[in-house]
Amino acid sequence: MNLSKTEIIRLLSDDEHEAKLLSHADAVRRQYVGDEVHLRALLEFSNICRNNCLYCGLRKDNLKVKRYHLSAEEMVETARLAAQLGFKTVVMQSGEDMYYTAARLCPIIEAIKKFDVAITLSIGERSYADYKAFREAGADRYLMRIETTNQELYHRLDPKMSWQHRYDCLMMIKELGYELGSGIMVGLPDQTIDSVADDLLFLQQIGVDMAGIGPFIPHPETPLADCKGGTLHLALRTMAIMRLLLPDINIPATTAMEALAQNGQALALNSGANVLMPNVTAGGYCKLYELYPGQKHSINNTPKQWYDSVCSKINSIGRIVGQGYGGHKSTLLSHKKSEA
Ligand code: 5AD
Ligand code: SF4
Repeated sequence: MNLSKTEIIRLLSDDEHEAKLLSHADAVRRQYVGDEVHLRALLEFSNICRNNCLYCGLRKDNLKVKRYHLSAEEMVETARLAAQLGFKTVVMQSGEDMYYTAARLCPIIEAIKKFDVAITLSIGERSYADYKAFREAGADRYLMRIETTNQELYHRLDPKMSWQHRYDCLMMIKELGYELGSGIMVGLPDQTIDSVADDLLFLQQIGVDMAGIGPFIPHPETPLADCKGGTLHLALRTMAIMRLLLPDINIPATTAMEALAQNGQALALNSGANVLMPNVTAGGYCKLYELYPGQKHSINNTPKQWYDSVCSKINSIGRIVGQGYGGHKSTLLSHKKSEA
């Protein structure tokens, strides 16, 4: 559906008709992508990052974080467990940790693909050659938020990073045939509603296959510790409008929403979202991957019970757990390859 910038701004600002917007997005979600909620196993394999994003708890100047990266064996073993539990996608996420070169990561991707799962990479800005190597090793999707399309704001928040370079990376990823996930934060300091409307139109225009939208939550060990942060209301509205603009894409109920309210993700699933990304990283490491405070850590010492509780939460709001790979496009080339 097409909406003008003026209409988007009106929807974002309209407190009175919020419930109507959210339930409309819910109906559009049902019509285009049905009642399935696709589960993605989130594997946070390294909290080491070369960047210094002002908002992020993992920024390199935060010396209070105990840094880790998982070994290849730990990653493959966690993915195996996730696949055994029933996950059909593994999301491999990290800071921009250059230890994981293509030469080190590709064999891990190949090993995980043997478990018959789709693989999403979320490891930041890399060279074209790296993106190509990961794709050839079997990665199906790539997730990298643009964070904001206000370039001036972006450069203030991500020192030494280039908005244009990030955009170029997204275009490379798309060209290489990955399913492309991107997204934004709302409630960043000095971010306006006008700018969030631009962000939504940008995501529509580049044709993302997945869009993650979350509220900015100030982290105490960052320069933005005293900022206000985004609200759940604004995040839900932004997400609902995304569903109207791109009715058949994948939209996660983000963990940042759950950090702001106990039923944040359930609300999101009832307002346009159709994806959940439960964290499968082993407890000890998971705690160290703190982008923002209030992140819910998985208690997965009894993985089966934990997985079943995620599924029953989905069922309790009248939805069903997705059975397939849950991609936006119906066929995944790398799956064809592995099945051949
Ligand atoms: N609050 C909310 N989201 C954050 N992210 C990073 N720091 C924060 C924060 N303080 C998000 C960014 C990044 C994703 C992995 O986490 O959008 O792309
Ligand atoms: Fe690194 Fe990502 Fe955090 Fe920025 S948001 S500091 S790139 S982990």
